[in-house]
Amino acid sequence: MADIRLEGVGHSYDGGRTWALKPMTWTWRGARAYALLGPSGCGKTTLLNIISGLLTPTVGRIWFDDREVTGVPTAGRNIAQVFQFPVLYEEMSVYDNLAFPLRNRKVPRQEIDRRVRQVSALLGLDEVLRRRSRRLDPGRQQIVSLGRGLVRPEVAAVLLDEPLTVVDPALKWTLRSKLKEIHRDTGHTLVYVTHDQTEALTFADEVVVLNDGAIVQTGEPAELFLSPAHEFVGHFIGSPGMNMLPAEVTGDIVRVGKSTAGAVKGDLPPGPVRIGVRPEFVRIAGERTSPGVPARVTGTDRMGAYDLVHTRVGEHQMIAKTEAGSSHEPGALAFLHFPAERTFLFRDQVRCGSLAPLNGRGEE
Ligand SMILES: Nc1ncnc2c1ncn2[C@@H]1O[C@H](COP(=O)(O)OP(=O)(O)O)[C@@H](O)[C@H]1O
Ligand SMILES: [Mg+2]
Repeated sequence: MADIRLEGVGHSYDGGRTWALKPMTWTWRGARAYALLGPSGCGKTTLLNIISGLLTPTVGRIWFDDREVTGVPTAGRNIAQVFQFPVLYEEMSVYDNLAFPLRNRKVPRQEIDRRVRQVSALLGLDEVLRRRSRRLDPGRQQIVSLGRGLVRPEVAAVLLDEPLTVVDPALKWTLRSKLKEIHRDTGHTLVYVTHDQTEALTFADEVVVLNDGAIVQTGEPAELFLSPAHEFVGHFIGSPGMNMLPAEVTGDIVRVGKSTAGAVKGDLPPGPVRIGVRPEFVRIAGERTSPGVPARVTGTDRMGAYDLVHTRVGEHQMIAKTEAGSSHEPGALAFLHFPAERTFLFRDQVRCGSLAPLNGRGEE
């Protein structure tokens, strides 16, 4: 349960032409549960393999607490890593597979038995402990792999690379809460890689969002939802993601075409921006509001618990999440209001400010 510090760590698979992981400085704090979230190909596995030592980074240094491990091979790092697909000794029993990492480190027999039974009970493997691993279905095999990753109490960190991919969806929820339970017990530093926002948000103390080889934001789940610092976080997190609308800052007013969307909070140089506001916070009305942006209703998705009202502002789609049973007819004119405390301004994809109430200024 060490702090794992990456100092200018980056990786290129093609001799420096492109970076799979752009040089970054970041510390994984001991005993915290992290989710590393990002789309396929953004560098998640590369980053994990660098921490475990399977991959030597092209640049940068790695520290476990005050010990530098940049050149230390995997075996010397005391890390447990679980991969996307089962990695087991197929001819061994489930029990022996779970015991293997402990026997390998000369843990006393009684302690091995205690740990194996503990992990087995937690993961629901009791009735298959004596069975050969190759006789289990892939989902069960993966749960055994997970158990192998969790069986050693004294590891610097547990790294899980999309570990529930082959597991039955109905079991995923249970396993994730078991993982949290085990994490609370052992206090491992835990990094859980996923491309699934629900998995990340329900699992982690802190979510690290990776895009295109770079960390774009880190924070608690609610922070990423309520206060995205980057457009990518806005649309990757949330369902549907954040609405983005081109606008113009003149003086301290934000305009969309001829309409006023709000005032600028603080100082922002004039020029183009993108307004970012989540569907949850867009207010939609049939009558003109000030501030407000006129929009054309294009349709409504009835989701049961709520409605998603689709509109267009010029060429741009804007979605408002409303109570179920809304009555916005397709083709109707509507007015969108963006609440100041939930609406942000972006330049070059990075948040540069937020909206403020108009307080009587700037109306048409
Ligand atoms: N062994 C490799 N050789 C060359 N390119 C690789 C290799 N592994 C990964 N890449 C490339 O590096 C980038 C990051 O990959 P990866 O870390 O596997 O992403 P993720 O796990 O987020 O899907 C991708 O563009 C991928 O194609
Ligand atoms: Mg991967």
